[in-house]
Amino acid sequence: MEDLEIRLTCGREEFETVLAIRREVFVEGQSVPLDRELDGLDDGAEHILVLLGSEPIGCARVRTTGRTARLERIAVLKGWRGKGFGQRLVVFLVDHCQKHGMEKVVLHSQCAVRGFYEELGFTAHGPIFMDAGIEHVRMVLGVPSAGNDPD
Ligand SMILES: CC(C)(COP(=O)(O)OP(=O)(O)OC[C@H]1O[C@@H](n2cnc3c(N)ncnc32)[C@H](O)[C@@H]1OP(=O)(O)O)[C@@H](O)C(=O)NCCC(=O)NCCS
Repeated sequence: MEDLEIRLTCGREEFETVLAIRREVFVEGQSVPLDRELDGLDDGAEHILVLLGSEPIGCARVRTTGRTARLERIAVLKGWRGKGFGQRLVVFLVDHCQKHGMEKVVLHSQCAVRGFYEELGFTAHGPIFMDAGIEHVRMVLGVPSAGNDPD
């Protein structure tokens, strides 16, 4: 399955590619309203692209506040799911955050994919809440303890 490349986007064209994947996965695939998907927070974020050969198959976004990194918009195109690419993407994201000094890595998981993140070492924390009409739960890498809350 090789020729997999996971890296930060480079330039406007690759950012547009990321947006196209997000539109397909979240807006068309999960009926997330476009104005929720394009939430105005992209400019202050890092964007990650997953390429299989030259084909874009997945993406993610990372936002940081202090030493906390928030993983967002994690997506693999439907035809490429279930092959381990999503897992490799999250491993890349966590490694990237830790290399850049982040002490806490958090995300808001759709409840339907909570097991995916648990396999990668994340722990659910706090109540289920709705976002864009989809049930979510906050998750933090590792076991939450005092001072290690997701938000
Ligand atoms: C969530 C998503 C990124 C997973 O990507 P993927 O490439 O299909 O996942 P992988 O093939 O790497 O799966 C890795 C492991 O997680 C498990 N897994 C995948 N989806 C899962 C789910 N919904 N629930 C529980 N476990 C899941 C796989 O079974 C696999 O476990 P295994 O190694 O024991 O076989 C992908 O399904 C996706 O893009 N979904 C739509 C967008 C979305 O919901 N993003 C998450 C927003 S919070």
